[in-house]
Amino acid sequence: MTLTALSVASEVFPLIKTGGLADVAGALPLALTAEGIASHVLLPGYPSVLAALEGARTVLDFNPLFGGTAHLLAGRAGGLELFVLDAPHLYARPGNPYSGPDGADWPDNPQRFAALAQVAARLGLGALPGFQPDVVHAHDWQAGLAPAYLHYAGTRRPGTVMTVHNLAFQGQCDRAWLETLGLPPEAWSIDGVESYGGIGFLKAGLQLADRVTTVSPTYAAEIRTPAGGMGLDGLLRYRGSAVSGILNGIDTAVWDPAGDPFLPSPYTAATLQAREASRAALRARLGLVDDPAAPVIGIVSRLSWQKGMDTVLEALPALLARGMRLAVLGAGDQGLQNAFAHAAATHPGQIGLHLGYDEGLAHLIQAGCDALLVPSRFEPCGLTQLCALRYGAMPVVARVGGLADTVIDANEMALAAGVGTGIQFASATRDALEAALDRVATLWRDREAWARIQHNGMASDVSWAGPARRYAALYREVSVR
Ligand code: ADP
Ligand code: GLC
Repeated sequence: MTLTALSVASEVFPLIKTGGLADVAGALPLALTAEGIASHVLLPGYPSVLAALEGARTVLDFNPLFGGTAHLLAGRAGGLELFVLDAPHLYARPGNPYSGPDGADWPDNPQRFAALAQVAARLGLGALPGFQPDVVHAHDWQAGLAPAYLHYAGTRRPGTVMTVHNLAFQGQCDRAWLETLGLPPEAWSIDGVESYGGIGFLKAGLQLADRVTTVSPTYAAEIRTPAGGMGLDGLLRYRGSAVSGILNGIDTAVWDPAGDPFLPSPYTAATLQAREASRAALRARLGLVDDPAAPVIGIVSRLSWQKGMDTVLEALPALLARGMRLAVLGAGDQGLQNAFAHAAATHPGQIGLHLGYDEGLAHLIQAGCDALLVPSRFEPCGLTQLCALRYGAMPVVARVGGLADTVIDANEMALAAGVGTGIQFASATRDALEAALDRVATLWRDREAWARIQHNGMASDVSWAGPARRYAALYREVSVR
């Protein structure tokens, strides 16, 4: 039987993206089609989203919705069936989805994302004739109130799934917002939306959704501990078997070295030598001077504490002393941006840096670097190591969250068994990272072993096929109500 799902997210690739959430929200619905799930995706009408929407038509009017007139548009883009909440008073703004040009969060973010969740709930309850989802799937805190609105609607409702992509962002606001957000007085409870004295959008979803998922089994275990739970571990333990981890995949059509329009010369596992063209293009693009005796280490990342980027700076002398080159694409914390800019200026030819967001360069780094470094302190899933596996760049990752679940450490036993796909190291510390760089250097000298690891990586299934099957099974569980 075909089920209908409404997926709710604040970012959806290729319309709007600041991180992996967008990749997942854009790729999972497409992959679910093969599992008999017809998905629609609801997202805010940011300017870039409205500009990209094809065949837009107004299907519902809301007057007012949190202080202004709003319309629900239906349309398509990137192969997705979309509902876009066109609410200019909430979303017609410059900057990224969450903050203005000065970098500060918009003060009305609670309303902006409660509006999204409220419209999701109305759709879930059948507000649009002819559209009745069996499941409402909320992604991250921005959609966290959707399961809450549905819970408090007190009528027959669809099943709900809350997926945590990053527990660090919880969407917290003052208790005084309760009524403005249209939540009933009884929602103010530890069993409801209350979280540490305020209203927690993510907490509400974790508490009230039928099922909670996160994006890897190891992260699902980590967030149930005080060390990884960011204050919500008690609740996650309490939810018991309602919480599970389902690994992300990547869109293997977007990330396909055999047909990637961003690469000078496409390649497959059988034509790995063609990576040399990408290696040369990457060197030219970032001004790196080649040293065949040492590998080029790539980084494609938000520059943030989560990603362990400060430890990369600490380990730079060790990296350069081994003759390695570093190719960095990233944007984020101003302090880290400045520090990387300084390092690149001090070591021309050895450190190549592009600060900012650049889709094409992200692909070129995956194809042109020898090893991709992901030294995260915590990582719910991580997508760049999956891209690296597919592109024959050896992932070198901290053993946390989804990084632990997706890369098989090429230790001696793994190599003997023929299964290693990369290098894992204990934690995002300078010492552990330097030890990992030593392993990279040793492996680089054994080119046969290196090539085997590349082939193993490229043979890994990083597609959405398996994950989509798991989500579909979960949807079927919660839709039987
Ligand atoms: P997170 O969502 O925590 O930032 P993920 O690894 O899940 O981390 O996803 C990051 C996504 O964003 C990947 O698709 C990666 O290629 C992309 N990305 C990160 N930084 C940049 C950048 N500066 N330019 C282009 N793409 C980037
Ligand atoms: C978050 C996490 C990242 C994950 C992504 C998509 O941004 O930080 O680990 O891959 O969401 O689920």
